[in-house]
Amino acid sequence: MAKNIVWHEASVTKEERRKKNNYQSYVLWFTGLSGSGKSTLANALARYLFEANIQTYVLDGDNIRHGLNKDLGFTDEDRKENIRRIGEVSKLFVDSGQIVITAFISPFREDRQQVKDILSENEFFEVYVKCSLDECEVRDPKGLYKKARNNEIKHFTGIDSPYEEPVNPAIIVNTEKQTVEESVKQIVDFLVAKELIQ
Ligand code: PPS
Repeated sequence: MAKNIVWHEASVTKEERRKKNNYQSYVLWFTGLSGSGKSTLANALARYLFEANIQTYVLDGDNIRHGLNKDLGFTDEDRKENIRRIGEVSKLFVDSGQIVITAFISPFREDRQQVKDILSENEFFEVYVKCSLDECEVRDPKGLYKKARNNEIKHFTGIDSPYEEPVNPAIIVNTEKQTVEESVKQIVDFLVAKELIQ
């Protein structure tokens, strides 16, 4: 960090924003292979909550890599930096009283843990969007697995770059067995049970 930087306290606190919104603010951190359904689910959940007058904001890997993180590629180091930045952005959103839904492969446990560590208790919930590599390859919505198998893309998750499954996620949604609606309901039920929404 640069020298001579002094933290400035905000005039409106996170707690005041939460009280006004009438709901908590936190991160629902979706992790899973490319093609597992992270973006689809994140957006379906955002739509469901929006209709229930609960504001959320989706941060999505492909989209963030168009702007904020367009200088980053897919080496282990770049993925680490990608997730570090998103963690910091998520923390700002939580501070602003928002529910953040993130959809990043975020393949490394350590990086996901680091995001959890910069947030407070009950501000980070890991959602494992589970789908086998075989099924993701069959879906191949962007044709990227085919390219990776043909050596046209390097460091592709699940092919020549690792994915570390969550050890103790708050929620596991199995997109091979469940419909989008069933998965959204599962997450909403979790949020209600934990009193994270009413
Ligand atoms: S990471 O690992 O969290 O930093 O990745 P993320 O920011 O979520 O970006 C994943 C999307 O980038 C596209 N893409 C790749 N994914 C994995 N490996 C390689 N090499 C790669 N190259 C491009 C791909 O469309 C991912 O989107 P999703 O939605 O996960 O399929």
